[in-house]
Amino acid sequence: MLAAELRALTGIQEVEPGRGLVAFRGDLAAVYRANLRLRTAMRVLLHLATGECGSRAALYELAATVAWEDLLAPGQTLVVDVAGQGEGFDSTAFAALVVKDAVVDRLRTRRGQRPDVSRTNADVRIHVHLHGRHADLALDSSGEPLSHRGYRPRGGPAPLSESLAAGCLLLAGYDGSQPFVDPMAGTGTFAIEAALIATGTAPGAQRSFACERWHFHRPERLVAEREAARASRRSSSAPILARDLDPRAVAAIRHNTQAAGVGDSVQVWRGDLRDLPPQPAGSLLVVNPPYGERLGDLDELSSLYGALGDTFKQRLAGSTAWVLTGSPDLAKQIGLRACRRLVLFNGPIECRLLRFDIVEGSLKQSDRE
Ligand SMILES: C[S@@+](CC[C@H](N)C(=O)[O-])C[C@H]1O[C@@H](n2cnc3c(N)ncnc32)[C@H](O)[C@@H]1O
Repeated sequence: MLAAELRALTGIQEVEPGRGLVAFRGDLAAVYRANLRLRTAMRVLLHLATGECGSRAALYELAATVAWEDLLAPGQTLVVDVAGQGEGFDSTAFAALVVKDAVVDRLRTRRGQRPDVSRTNADVRIHVHLHGRHADLALDSSGEPLSHRGYRPRGGPAPLSESLAAGCLLLAGYDGSQPFVDPMAGTGTFAIEAALIATGTAPGAQRSFACERWHFHRPERLVAEREAARASRRSSSAPILARDLDPRAVAAIRHNTQAAGVGDSVQVWRGDLRDLPPQPAGSLLVVNPPYGERLGDLDELSSLYGALGDTFKQRLAGSTAWVLTGSPDLAKQIGLRACRRLVLFNGPIECRLLRFDIVEGSLKQSDRE
């Protein structure tokens, strides 16, 4: 989905999906555009070097080849973030230290002055990805993950990642032209991401990016990209409905839709899934029902998943439903055969995204599992 998103953006070439990433080529404006507009990316990294790093010496050598003097202005602070796992590095903190030493040593030799490290407020974020005997070095242009759009308060119970929600919608073929409903909307992530798609709103429009502190940042180009993104907004053409049984969730959805600037596009209602009114044919329902970690929840949740299947049959004829769940056992309680099953990860949790096509009229017995 990310490669498709990138191909649809202007000024971006050589889009190449890889393992856990999609590579592309573009200029600084493309970096801004990608940060502002990508719905499914976590961060946009500016690739600097790739090489062998089976030992401290090899990683140091690799980091020392980068022209850091072009990337950090005198007086700028840095931080090194490390992701992945590399042979010869039991701890990512050690790999970060090695790269930091290489950067500091190179700058001290060239400038006679060493840069400071700032863990909490660095001007330049260096990103190291270790994989086996190799490492990629990059500048992180995003900072906070791009899933942090800014419309939902962080902290509290971990709900669905915004990027994953957008990815599910794009996988489901949502383009804003079909009526959309999430009957168990929680904090409203699916409905808000749907509204952002339907209104052509850039998901990063409300936030800042780490690249704004690069010494080669061009503020006027970012302003132009923000204005172009604003100009491409449109009104949503089909209804978007978010419902939840819990009044606190309903209040959160109302707050979050306003914060996301899509309050006018999303209808928010309190109600039980079982009371969902019939939806027009051609609707898209995407839902992430609770799947509970506590044992005692199981009976209640089984009946909730059963109610989901009944609701699909009775209220969603001629439409499509997608269910994202971390529990394959509970998914069976829906009682309908999924015509597509995709494995997705919500952070560390392996989930299934299941598609159900609900035919007009009552389902035949053979459609039940
Ligand atoms: C896992 S959360 C959904 C998270 C949501 N996707 C988000 O991004 O925040 C499940 C939601 O289902 C709601 N729920 C549970 N039982 C329900 C029912 N019978 N009818 C409607 N909503 C229900 C809960 O209140 C909760 O907000």
